Amino acid sequence: ACGTLNDQFGRTATYLRLSVTDRCDLRCTYCMAENMTFLPRKDLLSLEELYRLATIFIGHGVRKIRLTGGEPLVRKNVTSLFKNLSRHLETGELDEVTLTTNGSLLAAYAGELVDCGVRRVNVSLDTLNADRYRTITRWGKIERVFAGLEAAKRAGLKVKLNAVAQKGVFETELNDLIRFAHEKDMDLTLIEEMPLGGAAACRSRSFLSLAELRGRLETEWTLEPLSETTGGPAKYVRLKETGGKLGFITPMSCDFCADCNRIRLSCTGDLYTCMGHEGGLALREPLRQSNGNEKVAQLIRQKVFDKPRGHAFQINDTGVSGIVRSMSTLGG
Ligand code: GTP
Ligand code: 5AD
Ligand code: SF4
Repeated sequence: ACGTLNDQFGRTATYLRLSVTDRCDLRCTYCMAENMTFLPRKDLLSLEELYRLATIFIGHGVRKIRLTGGEPLVRKNVTSLFKNLSRHLETGELDEVTLTTNGSLLAAYAGELVDCGVRRVNVSLDTLNADRYRTITRWGKIERVFAGLEAAKRAGLKVKLNAVAQKGVFETELNDLIRFAHEKDMDLTLIEEMPLGGAAACRSRSFLSLAELRGRLETEWTLEPLSETTGGPAKYVRLKETGGKLGFITPMSCDFCADCNRIRLSCTGDLYTCMGHEGGLALREPLRQSNGNEKVAQLIRQKVFDKPRGHAFQINDTGVSGIVRSMSTLGG
């Protein structure tokens, strides 16, 4: 090992979110513009290059790798990357290799993912209503997600559902989502919408504070706070009535940057140390230009050291301050 990746504020990066493609088969309104232009394929790192970079991070103490996108399962041959990464589970260098997916291709992949050492998946699902699902995703078919969830369960994968909270649509369905998840033994996390990408300017109207929503939930459910985490930013409670877990991801209303353990790599090999800042560090050319890894490793150590204290997202009465890069560049 080459020491850990520490930043100037004393945090250690142990959780790498690795985006394997900017493409997706859906266009969720809070994530992408409808007429997204995707990167030319020649700009993407090969899966071998992504793996090579991952091994550098593993050598520096990263313990958890989550594949994201776009939609990770649309990347051709993505399971070969899972297979390579899973070898580091066997050696004990990694604790977890996993993914965040929209679920539409999960039925086809669940079994293979389990064979690659994946134990748990996070699946995005904001509603149980087929029409509303189509509106949010612009053309998605909710039955595909349901089929994906069934297949995941049959294959023995633990599932966490992710729901982005949006004012006006979400509140009415939240109790149904909770019951749906917990009946199927899935965790559910609620996410505050973050202002990224072209649509950021109209966010203030749809933004729903989870601090506020939690107050409302407390009038209907018994929330028992849990101290355990899944390594990400969610704070969990157990609902006494269902026995299931409900998580809150509150980048906007309750800052969690002080103990951030996360770094992000885009599918073009740009290293971002915070979601809430522009300015990734390009690793693709340094990687391609050197046979050894030390040069790249040094760039990574410096970039992580310089990680900012936190994001500067804001949504309030005076407006929205977000960033131009779309959510899909890094998959959250
Ligand atoms: P677990 O491993 O289950 O804890 O997953 P996770 O919550 O780390 O990952 P997931 O991909 O399910 O992320 C859920 C949401 O949390 C997404 O909307 C992410 O953008 C958001 N999120 C995760 N990490 C961070 C972070 O460091 N900063 C911010 N602002 N948002 C984050
Ligand atoms: N704010 C918060 N979460 C978002 N996601 C996508 N766009 C946003 C946004 N603007 C969520 C997806 C997925 C996760 C990776 O990020 O729904 O669950
Ligand atoms: Fe970490 Fe940045 Fe997310 Fe804060 S906003 S938790 S610093 S990635």
